[in-house]
Amino acid sequence: MTDRTAPVVSIDGPGASGKGTLARAIADRLGWDWLDSGLAYRGLAWVLVHEQDGRVDDETVLAGLERLRFETVSRRWHLFVGDRDVTAELGGEDLGDQASRVAVRPDVRARLLPLQRACLKPPGLVAEGRDMGTVVFPEARLKVFLTASPEIRAERRWRQLSAGGIHANLYRLTEAIRTRDRRDCGRETAPLRPAEGALVLDSTERTVPDLVAEVLARLATAGLPGREE
Ligand code: DC
Repeated sequence: MTDRTAPVVSIDGPGASGKGTLARAIADRLGWDWLDSGLAYRGLAWVLVHEQDGRVDDETVLAGLERLRFETVSRRWHLFVGDRDVTAELGGEDLGDQASRVAVRPDVRARLLPLQRACLKPPGLVAEGRDMGTVVFPEARLKVFLTASPEIRAERRWRQLSAGGIHANLYRLTEAIRTRDRRDCGRETAPLRPAEGALVLDSTERTVPDLVAEVLARLATAGLPGREE
C-alpha cells in the first residue's frame, strides 16, 4: 500500500545520463526500493507494438494501460503486462522512442500517475525518470537532476549496445538522443526539467563513484544517512 510518509529520493534527467546506475547505487546504500519509471512508458509501448500492431487510438491505448502493473522483485520495481514480467524486454532504443511518443499524452500520464505513486512504501524509494521530482513525488526529500552532453550520452549508449553484441551507428544514436530530448523537454504535460531546489549534476566528465559520493553527502545533510556497509 502507498505510504506517502515514506521518504523519496528523485533522480530525473535525459536518457543515458547515468540515472539508472546512480539510482541503483543510492537505493542499495539506503536499503530502499528502486523505481525506474521509464518502464511504465516502455511497457505501454511494448503492449502497443507486440499485441496491438502498433495501433495508438484512444481505446487501444486505454486498454493497454489497464494491463500494466508494478511489482517488487528484490527491492526493484518490475513491470508486468498481465502476469508476464516484461522488465528485461524493455531496454531497446526503438521502444524508448515509442515510449517517448506515448509519454506526451496527458491521458497516459494521468493514468500512470497512481501506478507510480503506489510504489512508495517504507523504508523509502529512489525514483528515477523525467518528472519524479516535479510531478510524481514533489515531496521528495532530495531531488537530483542528472545530465550530460548528447555526444557523451550517445557514446555510452553505443558502448552498452556494442557490449551486448548490437551494432549501432554513433551519428544516428546522437541524432535519436537529440530528437527524444526535444520531445521530452518540449511536451506540455510534465516536461523534463529540473525540479525547484534540485541538485543539478553533470555526468559528462565525472565518474559514477564521484557522483554517488556527492549524492550521499547531500543525503547525510538531509538527515538520510546510508546504512553501514
Ligand atoms: O528513461 P527511459 O529511456 O526508459 O524513458 C523512455 C521514455 O519514457 C522517455 O523518453 C520519456 C518517457 N518517460 C517519461 O515521460 N516520464 C518518466 N518519468 C519516465 C520516462
